[in-house]
Amino acid sequence: MDARRFAADGRSFDLVTTHFLHPPDHGMVDVVRRLASAVAPGGHLLVVGHAPSPAFTHLSASHRDAMFLAADLLPGLPDDFEALVVEQRPRTTIRDGETMQLHDATLLARRAG
Ligand SMILES: C[S@@+](CC[C@H](N)C(=O)[O-])C[C@H]1O[C@@H](n2cnc3c(N)ncnc32)[C@H](O)[C@@H]1O
Repeated sequence: MDARRFAADGRSFDLVTTHFLHPPDHGMVDVVRRLASAVAPGGHLLVVGHAPSPAFTHLSASHRDAMFLAADLLPGLPDDFEALVVEQRPRTTIRDGETMQLHDATLLARRAG
């Protein structure tokens, strides 16, 4: 299923979440809007992804451009959502034997019940 085409079609869930999905051309804002439509009243939407980082300079410009900060996604939240967490959370990882600090863009929002 292509998240860029997702439609809730009347389904609803207490938790809708996606991790490290990075559609091009800032498409994540629209994906957030689509996923939010599947959150039940009182339910939560959790989106986690790679925040931009110097650690990603080896990637192509389009890949780097697909990364986001949590606040970049806020325009995708419908009005009946309250953003509970909008931040970049630090994470230590090891790549090619080198320890590095990354930041995960983290958006947690609750739909009014
Ligand atoms: C970096 S992986 C992350 C996998 C997993 N969510 C995790 O956190 O380990 C990105 C995933 O997004 C999927 N993906 C890429 N474009 C997508 C799209 N438009 N709709 C749905 N899934 C997509 C890929 O197939 C891949 O499984």
